[in-house]
Amino acid sequence: MRAAVFERPGSPLTIENLEIAEPRDNEVLVRMAASGVCHSDYHVVIGEWGSPAPIVLGHEGSGYVEAIGPNVRDVEIGDHVALAWTPSCRRCEHCVSGRPVLCTVAVETAYNSVLPDGTTRLSRTSGEAVYSYLSVGSLAEYAVVPEAGAIRLPKDTDPALSALIGCAVSTGVGAAINTAKIRPGATVVVIGCGGVGLSAVMGAKISAASRIIAVDVIPEKLELAGRAGATDVINASQTDPVEAVFELTAGRGADYAIEAIGRARTIEQAYRTLTSGGVAVVAGQVPTGVTIEVDPMAMSGRELTLTGSNYGSVRPSVDFRRILGFHDSGLIDLNLLVDKRAPLDSINDAFDTLAAGTSARTVITLG
Ligand SMILES: NC(=O)c1ccc[n+]([C@@H]2O[C@H](COP(=O)([O-])OP(=O)(O)OC[C@H]3O[C@@H](n4cnc5c(N)ncnc54)[C@H](O)[C@@H]3O)[C@@H](O)[C@H]2O)c1
Ligand SMILES: [Zn+2]
Ligand SMILES: [Zn+2]
Repeated sequence: MRAAVFERPGSPLTIENLEIAEPRDNEVLVRMAASGVCHSDYHVVIGEWGSPAPIVLGHEGSGYVEAIGPNVRDVEIGDHVALAWTPSCRRCEHCVSGRPVLCTVAVETAYNSVLPDGTTRLSRTSGEAVYSYLSVGSLAEYAVVPEAGAIRLPKDTDPALSALIGCAVSTGVGAAINTAKIRPGATVVVIGCGGVGLSAVMGAKISAASRIIAVDVIPEKLELAGRAGATDVINASQTDPVEAVFELTAGRGADYAIEAIGRARTIEQAYRTLTSGGVAVVAGQVPTGVTIEVDPMAMSGRELTLTGSNYGSVRPSVDFRRILGFHDSGLIDLNLLVDKRAPLDSINDAFDTLAAGTSARTVITLG
């Protein structure tokens, strides 16, 4: 099967023919249909995050179940599935308490790009093992994933939308509705309007926020943010976003701020836009080693909360369908996020587009 293989930072991904083994216990073989190109792949591509290699990147995917291994009960051959990159072990303390995105098994396995048994089903024809990113590896014609990472969605769902629910949409919508738990009528700032940030804008809209202030440096992104539900936009390349938020709110500030870029400066900005009692959520992920500076006096004196959101604090088996429901009911339009559809051979161009920041999401169509 054809797959996009990453070898080292600075070298373009290559399209290779790889071997893929049969699914083992509690594993599923998925014929891939679509894979979004997320900034969390790009952190690896440019060396901001370390990764085992060679590896098939992509963690925002969807497809159809082609075969199931022994003991698989949740999905059947032919099912349409969105792939989840924190496959719940369903047993650890965090999974049992309803926070599967903190699964201790996934941290040891998926986050090292191996399956729960510690191995990979992918190899080169030479026999060399190939990893699959976050135990998904969606930039390929097929993927073997843990059963808990294959979440069934209705068969008539556009695979591009299912793929995006597999990362950007769940992360952004979830940061708003699950992590921040935005109250109706609140003022929300979203800094960064890529796939994750635009989804956070939609999450604020679902939460009935009365003011949704979107910040980006690219005019096309601000235009998209308006279509996604932002009531105000700030171009941070032209004006200081913190000052602009206070101007727009008559000196009050925001109840919630969601950072969706992954830079120290913008995380600090998110925190500084808060009104007393406000909550800043870090959804963006920084290059390894980056630290931030915040004013702890403001934290105590003004009861500010600075928190993080992994995967929008979702429970994939429940929330993927719930989020699709927001789209189906017309509350949000996930089609806004699918800017371009491109073949696997265009993967390096898709990363260039992501870096340029002009497009919401490129979705690679597979199969
Ligand atoms: N927390 C999680 O579980 C999770 C999941 C997925 C992605 N992420 C992370 O979220 C971040 C965003 O991912 P994405 O795929 O949406 O990225 P993206 O590249 O599509 O979007 C980033 C956006 O930030 C904008 N931007 C850049 N610098 C800016 C600045 N100084 N001020 C305002 N806007 C600026 C860009 O123009 C772009 O629109 C990444 O760090 C990614 O790794 C986190
Ligand atoms: Zn992602
Ligand atoms: Zn677990």
